[in-house]
Amino acid sequence: MGINQSEKKVKAIGFFDSGTGGLSVLCEARKLLPHEDFIYYADNINAPYGNLEDKKITKLTLEGVKYLLGFDVKMLVIACNTATAASANYLRGNFDLPIIGLEPAVLPASRQTKTKKILVIATQATINCKKYPLQFNGAEVRYCASKHLASVIENNFNDDNMIFCCIKKLLCPYDNWGYDCLVLGCTHYVLKRRIFEQVLCGRAQIFDGNYGTAQNIKRILAKKDILNTSGGKTVILLSNSSKNKDNLYKSILNGCI
Ligand code: DGL
Repeated sequence: MGINQSEKKVKAIGFFDSGTGGLSVLCEARKLLPHEDFIYYADNINAPYGNLEDKKITKLTLEGVKYLLGFDVKMLVIACNTATAASANYLRGNFDLPIIGLEPAVLPASRQTKTKKILVIATQATINCKKYPLQFNGAEVRYCASKHLASVIENNFNDDNMIFCCIKKLLCPYDNWGYDCLVLGCTHYVLKRRIFEQVLCGRAQIFDGNYGTAQNIKRILAKKDILNTSGGKTVILLSNSSKNKDNLYKSILNGCI
């Protein structure tokens, strides 16, 4: 027997990422949807995903998604550009619930750029996985792949000096190119947006897909008439849990950007 609409409404929304990055998306979603319940699952034992092969990323993401489905969630948010690039199509073809992914926010950047030059920074796997356009809406787009930044942020979250140096080194080869828009194509990077701002010193505007994703979640829930009006809880679960890690994740969410 099917469940009725009011039972569907009160189900939680499942969030998945390899680690802390997706908390930046969850944060936007909680602001926009304060009466929803959320279950956030980070597969931090296998993080970072960004240097793995597509197949391995899809396998790990599938395991994470199945774990979240065990909580009978009404929607899945793949709060990770890397996992989205590798596995969103597969997941959408195999599961019968709304699945929302994260893609680099090139469209809004293309509407703002004056120099017609946009730089996207993301993990190696995100950039390798898909054929992203080199021209978009009349702008040239370049892609800066990072092998280490996501894990530096995951494992040294409070070491802003180390993160600053890592970002500076990554962006240095593009210093004279003349881009005026930088797209953060990894949810981990969004947690350190402030440090990107310090490195850029106003040379470029920064874009990410988080607010747009939160709006998308709300729009889809409203369209399906499954918005919750009575919730507000968030549960965070880690594949490699410890007191220190649990506290770090909670403090990132509470201190949210
Ligand atoms: N938050 C993931 C993303 O948006 C992190 C990548 C990783 O685990 O390397 O791509």
